[in-house]
Amino acid sequence: MKIGIYPGSFDPVTRGHLDVISRAAKLFDKLTVAVMVNPDKKSTFTAAERVDLIRRAVDDAGICSVEVESFDGLLADYAKIKNATAIVKGLRALSDFEYEFQMAMTNRLLNSELETIFLTTSSENMFLSSSMVKQIARFGGDISPFVPSCITGDIQKRLLKVKADQEANK
Ligand code: PNS
Repeated sequence: MKIGIYPGSFDPVTRGHLDVISRAAKLFDKLTVAVMVNPDKKSTFTAAERVDLIRRAVDDAGICSVEVESFDGLLADYAKIKNATAIVKGLRALSDFEYEFQMAMTNRLLNSELETIFLTTSSENMFLSSSMVKQIARFGGDISPFVPSCITGDIQKRLLKVKADQEANK
């Protein structure tokens, strides 16, 4: 049984992430989408919210053999627990490469059995990022072209609430 892990912050999941999930799901018997902690980023959505959004997007898209979980720890350890053969990461542009390469090398040092596979995103998602989605929503823009349609309303509502809370605390 070939098991793959697609890790990330997914804060929140975008159409670009969903594209990678659907491509990666075809390469493995089972794909685990892992909502992980990136110590370099402060997340807006809780881990439970991010898991829920991804699950709904995956179900709505009819993608099979995918589980969604969160894990607070080292990806290399999580891969061992899950018996995963490979980590999948999406590469948008050359600018992603250095950071992703560094992570892939580190993960291989921590778990020598673990390969990292890079999938290129489709061209319409090249520029897309969760930070962009948050910025657009913050200024009242329409995020519907960038996030899965079944969760657009909930993401927009949540981000407007974050903005309102921040303004109330000023
Ligand atoms: O979507 P992101 O923020 O680029 O994903 C980065 C993530 C969460 C995959 C990475 O920070 C991670 O693997 N975090 C878990 C902790 C860990 O294993 N760190 C060492 C990897 S170099």
